[in-house]
Amino acid sequence: TSQEVEDEREFSYEVGSENGPGHWGSIHEDWAVCDEGEMQSPIDLSHKRVRVVSHLGHLRRSYRPSPATMINRGHDIMLKWEHGAGSVLMNGTKYVLNQLHWHWPSEHTINGRRFTMELHMVHESEDGKIAVVGILYKLGRADNFLNKMEVYIRKITSIHEGKEEVGVVDPREVRRGSRKYYRYTGSLTTPPCTEGVVWTMVAKIRTVSREQLKLLKEAVHDGTEMNARPMQAINDRMVQFYRP
Ligand code: MLT
Ligand code: ZN
Repeated sequence: TSQEVEDEREFSYEVGSENGPGHWGSIHEDWAVCDEGEMQSPIDLSHKRVRVVSHLGHLRRSYRPSPATMINRGHDIMLKWEHGAGSVLMNGTKYVLNQLHWHWPSEHTINGRRFTMELHMVHESEDGKIAVVGILYKLGRADNFLNKMEVYIRKITSIHEGKEEVGVVDPREVRRGSRKYYRYTGSLTTPPCTEGVVWTMVAKIRTVSREQLKLLKEAVHDGTEMNARPMQAINDRMVQFYRP
């Protein structure tokens, strides 16, 4: 999308460093919302803020297998569907799936608990609204989808902006395992930290193996041990929890 940052070396995750998360807002004029925004992500999904609702309904996904490319963005590894891979319908708006990528450890926490990894599936509507579906992982059995992606990730390991054609990838192979989810309005978790992002965090915690986590860590170009943005203030936002 046009809102993605091309030169990934411009910001880092190193707390206290000049281009670290506390300073993202002053690196570029367009990034000011990173510091000044009041609806930033990630947040703690605390039971104190969660309201159980049933009116949101199931995530209505109509994903389809489409050609994709694995890209090393320096701070993370992204699988990009050049022409989208189907869509999800939320509140009557259709959001096309453009890419997914991984953060470690997780960016969102649940009642203060941080997980090992978080996957983001990034969608965009025709008028440029963004919706991200996030899945949390703890250490355990290997994740099937990452297993399938392993050979492509190896090929771009340590290569900044390295790209590798993966062929047709079916996003339905990314398992959710639960229909329950958290929903709130936040932002991109990387600069430009654009607000108005519809966040859907799947309630079910899945697993990733130690080896898979190591694969991702070693693959990123800049060698950062982690790529999770620090927790942001929830301010007066509420979180909805959908339970069928
Ligand atoms: C996010 O999930 O907010 C991202 O990390 C944005 C991106 O894909 O650059
Ligand atoms: Zn992300």
